Amino acid sequence: MGRLRGTGLGLLTACFLFVMAPGAEEQTAPAAGEEELEMPMVALTFDDGPRRSTTTQLLDGLAQRKVPATFFVVGSRVKGNEELLQRMAREGHQIGVHTYSHTQLTGLSSAQVACEIQQGRQALTQALGPGDYWLRPPFGLVNSCVKACADSPIILWSVDPEDWKDKNTARIVDHVVSNAKDGDIILLHDMYPSSVQAALEIVDRLGERGFCFVTVEQLMACQEIAPEAGVIFP
Ligand code: NI
Repeated sequence: MGRLRGTGLGLLTACFLFVMAPGAEEQTAPAAGEEELEMPMVALTFDDGPRRSTTTQLLDGLAQRKVPATFFVVGSRVKGNEELLQRMAREGHQIGVHTYSHTQLTGLSSAQVACEIQQGRQALTQALGPGDYWLRPPFGLVNSCVKACADSPIILWSVDPEDWKDKNTARIVDHVVSNAKDGDIILLHDMYPSSVQAALEIVDRLGERGFCFVTVEQLMACQEIAPEAGVIFP
């Protein structure tokens, strides 16, 4: 699933940028015209934000490292953070919706589920303009109603260091670095300084091992999976 083909030019560019970043000197970019390269790739995802202090620090660190990520934003946190979100979009990050008020969707009626998702997307649209804003449901809880109302792919994760639990940077980094493999989606929260520090260390450590970082959308494209409304990924 890390087999890149010559068709994903934007993705390849993103990968080359990372490969050529400081700290990854041992990696060499493939020669022009080379058809395929093996490069394990993962998507870093951040839920529950934005939060001005920590998200700004994270964006600074990701920009330095030329690494894109995916942010699943809580709609009620958009107001007052519009510039932060606009910076995210400008710097090539994918932005998705994490409902309006971070409610457990599986406890709600169909109309309430639709409302939570739509209001979240509306807040994003007001700040950023129209977009797809893929859904990550709070707590990763999905039922038939959530699938029917999602109106986008439903994005879960495959590596969860439970960064909210002890806020221990070293433990979070160790968990992710020792578990991450090609094609993984890593769950973190940009609300905690410990998670921001962990995320940047994860980028550096996995980068040294030749990992490439992409958005969830790029990861799916690379796996040749077409985005489909109401379908869970991964
Ligand atoms: Ni959440």
